[in-house]
Amino acid sequence: MTETSSSVSLEKIPRHVAIIMDGNGRWALQRGLPRLAGHRAGTENLRRVIRSTVEFGIKYLTIYAFSTENWGRPAEEVQGLLGILQDVIDRELNELHKEGVQLRHIGRLERLSANLQARVLKAINLTKNNDRLILNIAWNYGGRDEIVCAIQKIIKDGIKPEDVTDSLVGQYMFTAGVPDPDLVIRTSGELRVSNFLIWQTAYSEWYVTPTYWPDFDKEEYRRALEAFAQRDRRFGKVSSGELQESNA
Ligand code: IPE
Ligand code: IPE
Ligand code: MG
Repeated sequence: MTETSSSVSLEKIPRHVAIIMDGNGRWALQRGLPRLAGHRAGTENLRRVIRSTVEFGIKYLTIYAFSTENWGRPAEEVQGLLGILQDVIDRELNELHKEGVQLRHIGRLERLSANLQARVLKAINLTKNNDRLILNIAWNYGGRDEIVCAIQKIIKDGIKPEDVTDSLVGQYMFTAGVPDPDLVIRTSGELRVSNFLIWQTAYSEWYVTPTYWPDFDKEEYRRALEAFAQRDRRFGKVSSGELQESNA
């Protein structure tokens, strides 16, 4: 259902929102809880955010769940995060499927156990014809890794240098076929990219909030969308308003 009562202007709803879900560890620390409790709270919040995304009428959502650098965390935390991924697939898949969510994965599955890889692929296959929301899960994802992978495939395919164009490179990315994000949201206040979608976000708008991910609620989401609706996206040109004025 699209929210008609919202103050967000509907023509300006982004088509694709990408989120760096950050701050789970600090959320837990603040409460004297182990970091994994923060990740669990963050996962609960993700469920709410997916629902809000559908309600706002956004078509594509990409979430950064685990980076290629996150393997460097303590083994216990990495194991816990892998367990959460498995739980999400086991417990949420049917509900997501019923809601018309198409699941996709970006990144590399290789480092997951054969069993977990099979479950992820099964979830992707089950939901492949859904079109209410395309949900890209970035798991074992790194923007540089994605570009390296694309270059390797381009060379393997024997593409001639003069045929390597912006759009061809896009087709070799994990996100092939998905429009670039219009809006990137980062929670927990960090002002950095952390290896997320570095090719695709060339002209994305950014919204950073100090709120930790488990506390990023629908009101805050709405504020991010309102901020986006106010932005003048020029893509290196001059704004259309200015052009009209100078022609008058
Ligand atoms: C984001 O929260 C989730 C993952 C990176 C898996 P963090 O775990 O990075 O939380 P902080 O940044 O330490 O607070
Ligand atoms: C980015 O957050 C990765 C995810 C949200 C999955 P990090 O917490 O890993 O990033 P840094 O270390 O603060 O740059
Ligand atoms: Mg972090």
